[in-house]
Amino acid sequence: MRKKKWAEPYLCEHSDYAMDNPVSYKGSWKKILGCSVLHVEIGTGKGDYLNQMAAMYPEEGWIGIEKDRTAAAIACRKAVEGLQMHKQKLIVNDAEHLLDWFDENEIDMIHLNFSDPWPKKYTHKRRLSSEKFLSMYQYVLNKNGCIRMKTDNQDLFEDSVLYFQQSGFMLDEISVNYRRSPHPEDAITEYESRFMSLQQPIYRLQASLHNVCDSKINMIK
Ligand SMILES: C[S@@+](CC[C@H](N)C(=O)[O-])C[C@H]1O[C@@H](n2cnc3c(N)ncnc32)[C@H](O)[C@@H]1O
Repeated sequence: MRKKKWAEPYLCEHSDYAMDNPVSYKGSWKKILGCSVLHVEIGTGKGDYLNQMAAMYPEEGWIGIEKDRTAAAIACRKAVEGLQMHKQKLIVNDAEHLLDWFDENEIDMIHLNFSDPWPKKYTHKRRLSSEKFLSMYQYVLNKNGCIRMKTDNQDLFEDSVLYFQQSGFMLDEISVNYRRSPHPEDAITEYESRFMSLQQPIYRLQASLHNVCDSKINMIK
């Protein structure tokens, strides 16, 4: 994304909401946000989903992670202008540091919306649904927790179904045309709205940890 001049000063001004490296929050997010259910969206982009979901489910905690600082500043501005900061935070950094910020079992739901597809084989390991990331998610997710993933990209979706299965997740729901039904309970992301206007199908899955064996979880400790 093209850099915007106002982005850095804006993030700096709102550093209590948009944080670079909140290591001191690890293990305390629910207490700090005053919630019993914690959602984390990874690759929040400009924050449409995060802000809409926080407005729809105001009692639950919502944390976005976005590494692009300009996109994060736009997401931050939406939260400030919409007065949506009560139970919401933004982490402006790369999700590869997830384990620095979240403790074992701390998150109830992880949302992956229209993650970058990284189509070339040698870049697959950067995918947010690749095995490396899934093993981190296994650690930070509550054992009744789940991951919801939406994408327009068929290859990424098909590969991700395998990544989830190979990592021991159980696939609770799979849809290859999710928006055929309206689903008012789930906000439409910025990218999703573009693909919907092009009449492209939206792929979506929900994966949970019910069947993950202990050895897999222990591996990451
Ligand atoms: C294709 S955009 C989708 C944005 C939004 N989720 C949507 O659906 O409209 C993907 C976003 O994920 C962010 N992203 C990709 N890899 C990331 C990572 N490892 N950590 C944090 N953000 C990441 C990118 O910077 C980009 O803003």
